[in-house]
Amino acid sequence: MNAMEQRLMNCLDCVRRHTDFVPDVALVLGSGLGGFADLIDVQAALPYSDIEGFPVSTVPGHVGRFLFGTLNGVKLVVMQGRIHYYEGYDMAEVVLPIRLMKLMGAKSLILTNAAGGINYDFHPGDFMLITDHFSAFVPSPLRGPNLYMLGPRFCDMSRTYTPELCDIARACAKKLNINLREGAYLQFPGPMFETPLEIRAFRQLGADAVGMSTACEAIAASHMGMDICAISCITNMACGMTGQRLSHEEVQIEADKAAPKFRALLSEIITAIGNR
Ligand code: HPA
Repeated sequence: MNAMEQRLMNCLDCVRRHTDFVPDVALVLGSGLGGFADLIDVQAALPYSDIEGFPVSTVPGHVGRFLFGTLNGVKLVVMQGRIHYYEGYDMAEVVLPIRLMKLMGAKSLILTNAAGGINYDFHPGDFMLITDHFSAFVPSPLRGPNLYMLGPRFCDMSRTYTPELCDIARACAKKLNINLREGAYLQFPGPMFETPLEIRAFRQLGADAVGMSTACEAIAASHMGMDICAISCITNMACGMTGQRLSHEEVQIEADKAAPKFRALLSEIITAIGNR
């Protein structure tokens, strides 16, 4: 076992001392979605700070704990608050929680985030199903000694956003009468928002929305063979697309506004994925 594998097993031991809950689905809650926890029949909660060797989130609005519980019979582990690269952690630390949730037993991963719209057809308040990603200027979370207990050295990325789960998400949105957009997510390192040139350039390269998370988590989960479904809440148009300046406050306000609809969509998707 290499050092990171050992660290992961220590984290798992720590979790197991608190709960023997075995989740089927793992969920990462993005900005504004903290309240999603109210929908869950919570059986255990574990602050990240209680897990030895676990990176701790420092972003305002991110709670920083695992919740274990059920939603319509689906056994869930939920990250209330994720770890971001811009906080200063290595990529391997940023994705440690994703790997830990797989070791707890989760087979599917649902990722959510707040993102800036790059596609001119999008509007704040829209939801975008992520069907592909572009990971720009951020190192790979798989760099360094491979964790053979989790997956292969060289991992295929051709079906990262699992087509079957994408179909489920589309069907759930249709059922709820939600216009679910689709597109490619661009991960930038942050914490600064992008420049107008960066946005223009990456629009040309096919990006539809931009944020500071998610793609790295999808890479780590893909490495482990997890099924993945990811959805962005478009909270603003990306830099240079309107006359407005960007701020974290605006992102939070728009994410909070969209939260009730996002909660309903997520709940439907989790139920469908967990019971498939
Ligand atoms: N850029 C990067 N991250 C974001 C944005 C954005 O415009 N909006 C929400 N998260």
